[in-house]
Amino acid sequence: MPSRTPHPSPSDAAGLDPLVVLRERFGAAIAAACATLGIAWDGETRIEPSKRADFGDFQCNAAMGLAKGAGKNPREVAAAIVERLDLSGIAEPVTARDIAGPGFINVRLRSDALAALLGRLDTPALGIEPPAEPETIVVDLCGVNLAKEMHVGHIRATVIGDAVARMFERLGWRVVRQNHVGDWGLNIAMVVMKLRDEIASGRRTLAGVRLGDLDRLYKQVQRECAGDKWGLACVRKFGLGPKAAAELEEQNAGAEETVARAKATLVRLQAQEPEIVAVWRRIYDLTMGDCLNNCGRLHTRVTAEASAGESSYADELAGVVEDLLARGVAEVSEGAVVVRVEGIAEPCLVRKSDGGFLYATTDVAAIRRRVQKLGASRVVYCVDIRQSLHFRQVFGAATKAGYATVSGAGSALRGQPAVLQHAAFGMILGEDGLPFKTRSGENVRLTDFIDEAVQRGRAIVREKAAERASDIPADELSRIGEVVGIAAIKYADLSGDRARDYVFSFDNLITFEGDTGPYLLYALVRVKGIFRQAREAGLVPDDAALSAAPILIREPAEKALALHLLTYPAVLRAAAEACEPHRVCGFAYTLAGLYSAFYEACPVLKAPDEVTRLSRLRLCSIAGRVLGDALETVGIPTLERM
Ligand code: ARG
Repeated sequence: MPSRTPHPSPSDAAGLDPLVVLRERFGAAIAAACATLGIAWDGETRIEPSKRADFGDFQCNAAMGLAKGAGKNPREVAAAIVERLDLSGIAEPVTARDIAGPGFINVRLRSDALAALLGRLDTPALGIEPPAEPETIVVDLCGVNLAKEMHVGHIRATVIGDAVARMFERLGWRVVRQNHVGDWGLNIAMVVMKLRDEIASGRRTLAGVRLGDLDRLYKQVQRECAGDKWGLACVRKFGLGPKAAAELEEQNAGAEETVARAKATLVRLQAQEPEIVAVWRRIYDLTMGDCLNNCGRLHTRVTAEASAGESSYADELAGVVEDLLARGVAEVSEGAVVVRVEGIAEPCLVRKSDGGFLYATTDVAAIRRRVQKLGASRVVYCVDIRQSLHFRQVFGAATKAGYATVSGAGSALRGQPAVLQHAAFGMILGEDGLPFKTRSGENVRLTDFIDEAVQRGRAIVREKAAERASDIPADELSRIGEVVGIAAIKYADLSGDRARDYVFSFDNLITFEGDTGPYLLYALVRVKGIFRQAREAGLVPDDAALSAAPILIREPAEKALALHLLTYPAVLRAAAEACEPHRVCGFAYTLAGLYSAFYEACPVLKAPDEVTRLSRLRLCSIAGRVLGDALETVGIPTLERM
């Protein structure tokens, strides 16, 4: 978890949310009252939305606890708070009459205050101020492995990672995405070796090889190298006969030989022999071509420039281990080199006794590069939760080595620890509660998965269009359907707490009902639709007139909508800080519901008078822009019409 808040948040988040303003004002009053009454206060204002609308908008529940602790009468404590309370400019003055029951303090916001706050939100940036000095964040995302086709599990590392990156971009940070491609080591050397064998045998040419071939070779060579040591042990133990033993012995000898050849290939790859590198390059290009294509279709910004594979650290690993040893950060243990990290039983292994480096060594080198060279004050890893121990070890080792200390020349954070965070995610499950697989038990290829989403998105969009006898041309419907399908799977992946597994079902996602991507896209299109209707009816003011129109918050539905809109900057900041895009999704879903309630209750184009109509149109405009911004900020593509 992040250990520091480098800069105080710009004032927007605090300034626009009425709840935050109330907390400040109540905080001052409670502190003063407690000082006078000699009560110790824990700093909590205990302000909540009112349980009953006729009591007000918010209530402060602090008096009861304070009185109890000090053996005083809660209503008297409440009165002492109220006496010192200044709510000018935000709420109606609070008097003794607003103290209810055992000491609740009821607060009624002022409509003009809400309108003024909304006016401040109604800017092109929607009230979100960029920081005076942007910090740099590295977001580690996607993380494909060479020679393996991306499967459905990769969607999470890509989609959540991109959403985290986008949230920070939206807040004005300098964001560097890093696709940490698994393109180095023995596994890859095995595929290189196999592919060379096939080429040598004339069965294949380098140019003719396809990603599917690589995937097959990968699995084949893994099997060959595994041998069957366990089987041989069983045969011996249970005396299953010389024939079975001989067969398994041969298989195991074959496996050992294959591994030995793969190791030799790895040495030649590491020595950058052109012939070997050419084969490796082909594997890299095929894998990355597929990867970047999928990332593009998923509306994520993962590019070739944003990809730095494990191979890009290969030259640094020996130096890193030497450095760690030289400074006493690492130690030799049974021939291997380890870094002991406080609080973790298993040390971080950075060099094996045979001299080989590991996944962890690369990640320690990556932290050094990201913090020291790329200037990050924060590095977030969107990686499977099953790698939690790995990241705790690596973060601990890099921190101990001083690699995670911000060094950027001129940075206000120089010398401070960078925030290293594992934004871990759970698994995608099928409806049977087991890991999501094809019917035959294979991993679902990401490409197939995206294809199916798009195809289903198109089907539902066509169906809806036919129901409404829509005049949208077929090719546009097809594009709309694609966006609907992608939005659906992305929203499903983003809208739940990322650390938890979730059950995936196309039927439950690609629907316009409930908490789904398509529902939100439709809600947004409806908000935009009102401006089209207004234009057709000749009722639409120009932008200048609209943004100058006084906002009138009179109906409960208007107030509820306004209150929610005003929390947007704070919600976004908190979501980014915790790397939790689902908070923005939840905000968007609630917004869509409140907008629809407002639309039902408050006629817009048929408003009783011009002033009301303009005010409501302006509310629609703000709601539409905030909803669109929230969706795009977590990477959900949006539509103008559907
Ligand atoms: N390629 C890795 C895997 O498939 C994920 C990489 C995650 N990023 C990192 N810096 N370790 O498990």
